[in-house]
Formats: sequence, structure tokens, C-alpha cells
Amino acid sequence: MSSVTAPTQAPAANPLREGLEQERVPDASSLVIFGASGDLTGRKLLPALYSLAHDGLLPAGQTIIGFARPDFTDDAFRMAMREACDKYARTRPVDNAIWENFAKGLFYVQGDFSEPSGYYRLNQKLQECDRTRGTGGRRIYYLAVPPQFFPVISELLGAEKMVTDPERGGPFTRVIIEKPFGHDLQSAKELNRVAVSTFRERQVFRIDHYLGKETVQNLLVLRFANGIFEPFWNRQYIDHVQITVAESIGVEKRGNYFDSAGITRDIIQNHMMQLLSLIAMEPPVAFEADPVRDEKVKVVRALREFPRGSEEENAVRGQYADGSVLGEKAVAYRKESNVSPESKTETFAAMKVFVDNWRWADVPFYLRAGKRLPKRVTDISIHFRPAPYPMWRKLRGVSTQPNVLAIRIQPDEGISLKFDSKVPGPSVRTAPVTMEFRYATSFGAEPPEAYERLLLETMLGDSTLFARRDEVETAWAWLDPLLNAWAADTRPPDFYPAGTWGPESADKLIERDGRKWRRP
Ligand code: BG6
Repeated sequence: MSSVTAPTQAPAANPLREGLEQERVPDASSLVIFGASGDLTGRKLLPALYSLAHDGLLPAGQTIIGFARPDFTDDAFRMAMREACDKYARTRPVDNAIWENFAKGLFYVQGDFSEPSGYYRLNQKLQECDRTRGTGGRRIYYLAVPPQFFPVISELLGAEKMVTDPERGGPFTRVIIEKPFGHDLQSAKELNRVAVSTFRERQVFRIDHYLGKETVQNLLVLRFANGIFEPFWNRQYIDHVQITVAESIGVEKRGNYFDSAGITRDIIQNHMMQLLSLIAMEPPVAFEADPVRDEKVKVVRALREFPRGSEEENAVRGQYADGSVLGEKAVAYRKESNVSPESKTETFAAMKVFVDNWRWADVPFYLRAGKRLPKRVTDISIHFRPAPYPMWRKLRGVSTQPNVLAIRIQPDEGISLKFDSKVPGPSVRTAPVTMEFRYATSFGAEPPEAYERLLLETMLGDSTLFARRDEVETAWAWLDPLLNAWAADTRPPDFYPAGTWGPESADKLIERDGRKWRRP
């Protein structure tokens, strides 16, 4: 772990977050954001960095350098980023004194991703910051750019000698890569090949922002810090598991990207695989990057292959048609801008999958993800087997229901346990009741944004919360046959009105097994 230097400011005095602050403070480094004029920088990255500074978690001297093609001065960049933080930072309103101090470490270098001259200027700036801000040659390159720029950026960083080799010691260089990490197995392998031609695997931080969410991290704590759950966490007690990632938004302005991706590549291959791995993994030997990721990748490796020739048997794809979401009219996917009017791209997918190992043999995991569903909710539910012998089965008013442990990833983060209880009164009647834990009530504070945690972890050099090369490739290897089968299928996806829970075929997928989707 890095040594502790004085934080920029004392932690914000928020008694409700007492004891929740991160104790580790990284060494100051220069964080270069490639693609600094893009949406992600203003919406997520700078607000997250500012909030870290606000909470006293950034080291003194931490430097951020935006790199992109438009011609900005440092001041113009600072102004644009201040506006972004005013709009999006978790810790709002922005505190002027904290901002002033933070903005002193904010710079901009103009450059084209494929022009060595820009890298030369960047390198000069980095060296200047080493002298003036104590960044000591430590570098983090954040590639907030479409994947096609990744090869040229890493090649030029290498050619300009801006990457150190950790095997030789000295200050670190790390690279953060945004999704999409490939389009299929072959392209993911190619990206990985490019990555490791300039960097070593332990320098590569592949972002999956779901891993930065507090509630996602809590899956490990729930399972492995408590004695009561683990004994039941297996095929003997669990009937099935459901994972839902529902969004009410459509594709917004991302028609171009989404139409060539679809929900399976956008959500299932990455975010959903992370949730599934954390739910199904074996206890790691240590809470460290490799032991945790070793266990996660074993889950993906154990996923049952889609049956050859009938890959679509346990999978459904849908696409939203005209409808209304949260009381507002919503147009069909095919009418969205930059989407082909004949598009077959799926905006909804549901599938039944199996983790073929000792713990989970024959326990179905039902996964579904979709856009333009009735609401935004990410929910994991563990459905337990019923009690072995319902003694009251002949009595009226007694119908026992299976216990459900529901983990609400977002919003209204929390965990609830549903069980049957006796209805008060002289006769035996039962009704399901719920025991609830809510983050907001128990901890009284907004959890930090995913990007805050992930940026901090990169500065600390801890890649536990990042996807490893084999995780990404194994997930693609598993999904490719289904995606290929869908691509070859000339039929359109099953349509569903915007604002509903997907096509009827998704209901049938689970109902034919005598089960139902939970309404989260
Ligand atoms: C992104 C997807 O990775 O995750 C988006 O590209 C999606 O399409 C987003 O909207 C969902 O993230 P969150 O944090 O809002 O659940």
C-alpha cells in the first residue's frame, strides 16, 4: 500500500459518515484524461475527483490533466469543469475554497490522439508537474475514448517513453480503460493484446462501474462477513436466483453506439456478469485483487454453454415499441435518432443460465436487462426452497410462500428478507412479511459515486474492483455463440411497448418452469 501523505483538506465534517471514510491516501500522481472534452469527463470523472477532494481523500499535489483535440486554455477547462461539478458532483454545492485548491492541480493539453506532437507537449507538462507539484513521475492514463483510439494512444505513449515498467521499479504508470471492452471474443482479445504490448496486466485497470457501487461491494460483505447466509447459499436451499437490471431511459443520444451493441453487450456481458460472479463465487482466500478475481472468473468459466444449434432456447430478446414510461410518451426504438428503422438490435434480453459446479448444479439463474422498462431498478433476488412439509396445508387462509432475500442494488439501496408470519388472531392464517435494511436509514448518507471509489483504487494501485483480462475474455467466449445465433436470425426481436416489463416471451421463459419474475 502507498505511504500516507497529508490530504488536501480535512475530511468533511459529516457525523453520519464517521468511520466510513477511506483511511488510505495515495501518493500524488498525474491523472491524464484522454478525451477530456467528452461527456464522461464532465458528467462523471471530474465530479468524482472533486468529491474525493471535498472528502479529503486526494493527496496534496494530485494533478489532473485533460487531453483532447479542442483548443482550451487551462482556465477555460477549469471553468467548464467547475460548471460540470456544479451540476453533477455528489458533494454539492461546490465549496469555493475547496474548488480553488483543487483547480490549481487542473490543467489542459491540446492534442490529437494520433499525433506525436501532442504527446510531446503532454510529456513536458507531466515533467513540469513532477517538479512543481510533487507527482514524482507517477502517471495514470484514463482512456475516456472510443475503443478504436486505444491502440494508437497506447502505442504513442510507449513510443514517447511515457510508460514505466513495474518490473524495473520506479514510479508507477497505470492505464484505465473504459468499456466497451470489445464487441466479441476476438476484438476483446485484440484489445488485450494491444494493452499488454505497452503495459503489463497489473498496470491495466478495466473499468466496470458496477464494481464501484457500494451495494455491489456489499455483496461480498453480506455473504462472507456474516455467519448466517453462507450455510444456505447453495443448491440445497436455493431454488433459483433472479437478477434484473431495468432502466426507464431509452438509448438517449447513444443510438449510434447502441445500435451496434444491444443490451447484451451493453449490460449483460459486463455489469450483469459481475453481479452474477459475486453472487455465485466461492469465498476467496483473501480480499485482494487476484484471489477475488480468481474466484469470479471460475463462475464465468462454469456457465453452461448455450446448446449448439439451439442457442436461443433459453434466451429471449426484445425491442421497445411505442409506449409510455413514467407517464410520458416514449417512441419506439426504431424511431430513435441514429438507429436503423429496421434495426434488429435488442433493447431487452432475458435468459436462463446455469452455473455448472458443485454449489449451483441445476439452480437456474434468470437474468434480464432492458431499456424503457417501467422504472430504473437493479435487483438481485435469492428465492429459497419451500419448507419441506407444510403442516397447515389443509387449513384455509394458509398458503406458505417461499422466502426471498432481495438485494436492491439501486435505487433505494437495501436488503430485504421476505418470510411468512402468522396473522394475529385466534385462527391460523399466514401472510408474507418483510424485514428490511435500508442504507439511507442505517447510514444516513448518500453512498459515494462508483467513479469516486474506482479512481481512488487506481491511485492506490488496487485492482480488486476492476475486471481482469481472463474475466472479460471468458464472458465473451460464453456469450459469443448466442450473439452469433441472434445475428444470423432474420426474425425481428419480440416487441414490447415502452414502459412494460419486456416481451411476453420473457414471462414465458420463466413461467414454463413454474416460476415468476419478481416485480422489484
Ligand atoms: C452503462 C451502459 O455501462 O451503464 C448504459 O452503457 C447504462 O447503457 C448504464 O445506462 C447504467 O448504469 P447505472 O449506473 O445507471 O445502472
